[in-house]
Amino acid sequence: MTILGIESSCDETAVALVSYASGRFSVLRDLVASQAKIHAKYGGVVPEVAARNHSMALIPLIKKALGKKRPDVLAVTSGPGLITSLLVGVQTAKTLSYLWKKPMIGVNHIEGHLYANFVSEQAIRFPAVVLIVSGGHTELLLMKGHGRYELLGSTRDDAAGEAFDKGAKILGLGYPGGPALSRLAQQGDASRYPFPRPMLDVPGFEFSYSGLKTSLLYRVLEMKKKRIQFTNRVIADLCAGYQDAIVDILVSKTARALRAHSVHSLICGGGVMANSELRKRLSGLLADSFPGVSLYYPSPRLCTDNAVMIAAAGAFHAIKKMPRMDAWKKIDVSAQWELAAKKQSV
Ligand code: KG4
Ligand code: ZN
Repeated sequence: MTILGIESSCDETAVALVSYASGRFSVLRDLVASQAKIHAKYGGVVPEVAARNHSMALIPLIKKALGKKRPDVLAVTSGPGLITSLLVGVQTAKTLSYLWKKPMIGVNHIEGHLYANFVSEQAIRFPAVVLIVSGGHTELLLMKGHGRYELLGSTRDDAAGEAFDKGAKILGLGYPGGPALSRLAQQGDASRYPFPRPMLDVPGFEFSYSGLKTSLLYRVLEMKKKRIQFTNRVIADLCAGYQDAIVDILVSKTARALRAHSVHSLICGGGVMANSELRKRLSGLLADSFPGVSLYYPSPRLCTDNAVMIAAAGAFHAIKKMPRMDAWKKIDVSAQWELAAKKQSV
């Protein structure tokens, strides 16, 4: 089975061609046209501009990925994300599905981040705790099997990636500043400027990051008032302290989820999982406290938005139940599509 993956939920237009045979994935094409430079001058993603650029980039990328080939199935991100950006990918996929008479699957973007792990490893054992950390989402889930999720907790305000990006903006590191902030943090001393760890004393698995960004802003303003020089050393130390707080919260809440649920695996994904400090700290957590739990995270390339992960998630849906040829008629975009609901406690 060959699957054409299409991703256009935010500011990356991505197309991938993946084949799945005898329980193994092969990535035949993995193309990403990033709009990061276009949005950098606005300091954030401008939805209208993103949608316009998706519509210009998508067809050429599909042509490049396929050549004269036709996929067996199409998998497209249909939510959550920016509605106009999602529409470009979904309408294109619907048109192709109709023209080529090939079935189509609408994939949840969060599920895509999770399934990035299955591209290279299918023998992941369930149940698993899942940590998804991206620019738009911070979620802990309990995964009982393929497609079976329960939400443990998510962020009440900003996502972890947003905290990285907003922190970077305050420090003048450009957009999206997460990677730049984490690079500088590697050279800094995290103990020089400690930051608060919101929500750690609140039971449960919820996150909150907006207060952290505000505390960085106040600290920077106070330092400016005191005429402290923002040397490379000072900026690196601020980055290290700030990153330490973000990572600490993620690791502590994940540890709490692992203590509360007896699982075989911890599966992580999303752009923030490209962060080397977070990868290191989660590996350390499992080695020290949960040696029986296997840790999975994708290569940095498959952590950030891509279409291979969408094709992989689509493949699992198709294996379970191949959609009808006219499935496209019922697929619609959903800007707020929740992957799973929280279990109600009685
Ligand atoms: O998954 P993703 O590509 O897009 C969304 O679905 O949101 O995640 C993008 C986020 C951005 O906030 C970006 O700053 C962050 O991931 N990110 C990082 C790193 N690489 C990407 N944050 C911290 N350290 C990194 N190395
Ligand atoms: Zn994403």
